[in-house]
Amino acid sequence: MSSNSPKKKIAVVFGTRPEAIKMAPLIRKIRQADCFELKVCVTAQHREMLDMALALFAISPDHDLDLMSDSQTITEITVRALAGLEIVFKQEKPDLVLVHGDTTTTCSAALAAFYQKTAVGHVEAGLRSGNIYSPYPEEMNRRITTAIAGLHFAPTEGNRRNLLHCGVDPERIFVTGNTVIDALHLVARKEYIFAEAALNRLDYAHKKIILLTAHRRENWGRPLGNIYAAMRTLLSNNPDTELVFPVHMNPVVKEAAHRALGAVPGAHLTHPLDYEPFVNLMARSYLVLTDSGGIQEEAPALGKPVLVLRAETERPEAVEAGTVKLAGTEKDQIVSLAQELLTNKAEYEKMARAVNPYGDGNAAERIVNILRAHFFADQEKQGVAGLYSGY
Ligand code: UD1
Ligand code: UDP
Repeated sequence: MSSNSPKKKIAVVFGTRPEAIKMAPLIRKIRQADCFELKVCVTAQHREMLDMALALFAISPDHDLDLMSDSQTITEITVRALAGLEIVFKQEKPDLVLVHGDTTTTCSAALAAFYQKTAVGHVEAGLRSGNIYSPYPEEMNRRITTAIAGLHFAPTEGNRRNLLHCGVDPERIFVTGNTVIDALHLVARKEYIFAEAALNRLDYAHKKIILLTAHRRENWGRPLGNIYAAMRTLLSNNPDTELVFPVHMNPVVKEAAHRALGAVPGAHLTHPLDYEPFVNLMARSYLVLTDSGGIQEEAPALGKPVLVLRAETERPEAVEAGTVKLAGTEKDQIVSLAQELLTNKAEYEKMARAVNPYGDGNAAERIVNILRAHFFADQEKQGVAGLYSGY
């Protein structure tokens, strides 16, 4: 930064647990850079699950829209986030708004910034499933955010190619790795004592722990029923296996989970775990079954095989690397793939290798360096006005 350049104001906006976890390393790095003024704005589309991550990473938001309500609809989140963020952006007048990923907060924040003619940077850009209804509404949120953003931070080369395919200017795409790996490095420990007594009591040495999470909207109803039925069969066929299922707080997911698995021997249903115990539980599990996006990125880095409970994934890299398999949402297929991994050691070992297609843990630093170069190096060469003319 040249001595007479004023600081640039960056507003980082997020609203849910995964966004908070993945933005936390970037917030740290922006804070450390002397050329930026940081404003953290949370919509609080999630409340408790967001607050867990904010507390862990010691992030105190400058603005908190506190918009979560019980069983909220996508429309409600969008409308309230747009209205709330308009006020924040008018007051703060940031030079850049940074959003993450694919939630309704992401898309609303990008749109709210666009309405103020404020530049948008998209972290975790370029993921695509090719189906606008799966994941729903995330795939459309990504596409809209891509259309608005002027800087695209793509985790992988494949994500970069997706963006090029959408007509994004190659000079505005930066392959950085995924900040989730930065976050993982901050919390994964060799030795770890859980605060939750139930997790300490599990016999990790002699039992095979299956870790399950499931929350996606397109899995509500029959697919979730199939997944739970598959878990009951696996537990009853494999007495050396236990299931740990930290249940998402979405009431649709929570009620169905407790009804289907609450009383099943060997099934341990918990509240959502803090990120630190969750990662360390994943590291001690035998197998991960999930429809989560972030967990598909973390588990391969920890050498844990993942069965994805979806028909497709916008994260094909770990599938190609051999640690993730698409299991779909039909009971028989889930049981058969999991059973193979529980009993066939060679098959298990083939998948249980630490691979890390999503980054080296330095994504946040890379993004901050790119932002510095854009705001200051370019500024000296071509003037700020030239910076975001690529819409
Ligand atoms: C949201 C995102 C999804 C993301 C997921 C990560 C949208 C539309 N969905 O889904 O992309 O993968 O977060 O977890 O953007 N709830 C609480 N406390 C919390 C969080 C949620 O009680 O801390 C309950 C509330 O009743 C809330 C409901 O869950 O209304 C749904 O939350 P919402 O953010 O709308 O959807 P998610 O299913 O969490
Ligand atoms: N996670 C957590 N506690 C839990 C379950 C998940 O901290 O009980 C973390 C997980 O490690 C990952 C993120 O939350 O970083 C994923 O969030 P989620 O599955 O809700 O959203 P998605 O990634 O599917 O958008």
